[in-house]
Amino acid sequence: MSALAYHLDPLHDLDGLSVRPQPLPQPGPGQVVARVRAASLNRRDLMLAEGTYPLPAVPGVVPLSDGVGEVTAVGAGVTGVTVGDRVTSTYYLHWTDGPQRLAHVREQYGANHDGWLARYITLEADSVIQVPDHLTDPEAASLTCGGVVAWAALTKPAPVRPGETVLIVGTGVVALFAVQFARMHGARVVCVTSSAGKAKRLRELGAGEVIDRNQAPAWEHAVLEMTGGDGVEHVVDAVGLPTMAKSVACGAFNARITVIGAFPATEPVTDPFGGRYLAIRRIAVGSRADFEAMNRAVRAHRMRPVIDRVLPFDEAVQAYRYFRDGNPFGKVVVELQP
Ligand SMILES: NC(=O)c1ccc[n+]([C@@H]2O[C@H](COP(=O)([O-])OP(=O)(O)OC[C@H]3O[C@@H](n4cnc5c(N)ncnc54)[C@H](OP(=O)(O)O)[C@@H]3O)[C@@H](O)[C@H]2O)c1
Repeated sequence: MSALAYHLDPLHDLDGLSVRPQPLPQPGPGQVVARVRAASLNRRDLMLAEGTYPLPAVPGVVPLSDGVGEVTAVGAGVTGVTVGDRVTSTYYLHWTDGPQRLAHVREQYGANHDGWLARYITLEADSVIQVPDHLTDPEAASLTCGGVVAWAALTKPAPVRPGETVLIVGTGVVALFAVQFARMHGARVVCVTSSAGKAKRLRELGAGEVIDRNQAPAWEHAVLEMTGGDGVEHVVDAVGLPTMAKSVACGAFNARITVIGAFPATEPVTDPFGGRYLAIRRIAVGSRADFEAMNRAVRAHRMRPVIDRVLPFDEAVQAYRYFRDGNPFGKVVVELQP
């Protein structure tokens, strides 16, 4: 079978995805080519398809920021990567460490540089990450976006401390990683979700307490009650403006509220602090150094990302549709034949 790649024609939603033959790429200086084994979806990939992501997709770009592959060729000047390595990539092509700059967020795989939904990918050497050996290909293809942002939320500027309470809002990809990483740090985890079925699975994943927001629409009161009226030290809000006021209401004195979710407001948002003394910040994924720190923890704890479903490459559009409409619990992955 000849190599194939999906291409995205933005603003046409899932109708903008098409598949075409892919010539075998050759790495330039400082680049690496990998034969893709699996790739996975994130909310941003739906936003890129529908044209609501802040960085517009380049017409015809190969989508997806998350994937895993085997290195088949290494360009001049590349060190630390060898043919045969099983690798993934960072979200941003060149954010290796230190503070995030606007220039970093302007270069992303699957948006304005060809991503993982193809037989081959060309990676900038700065962005190549070796994956933990114990992970399957679908698991290794799940770390880049949701994993790293959840890790960054819980470890920067200082890690969550054992015994602190972390409230996690949402039950998507980011939230599930956050539950696992918060538990890894010895935190007490409180989750807000929308169904009894998801609540059960969140408990199995390590959440100590789960609130069903359909049963308790004013869930901030339940969180305050659980914490003796004090509130929680950390909130990872993986929804965004629709839940931000409630997230703030749950914050203890000097709490850290990390807003990851980018869902738009459903009602006007006024004074998010509401008289409370705490810090709210919005973060976007993480650096190569964050990814490597996360992988050290993933290896040490033999942690595994939650996978909802794995579909074959020729069903990639169905994978998008299932991710959008199927209310998954965990990652939706596309796998390629070896
Ligand atoms: N800043 C970053 O670096 C970054 C990285 C990754 C993702 N994101 C953003 O973070 C958000 C979550 O991403 P994801 O990949 O985890 O998405 P996802 O897998 O699509 O999950 C979204 C979850 O949000 C919950 N939700 C939606 N509306 C809600 C509401 N009004 N109140 C409470 N919960 C609500 C739902 O949980 P229930 O089923 O429990 O209701 C749903 O499962 C998205 O906006 C995405 O764009 C940002």
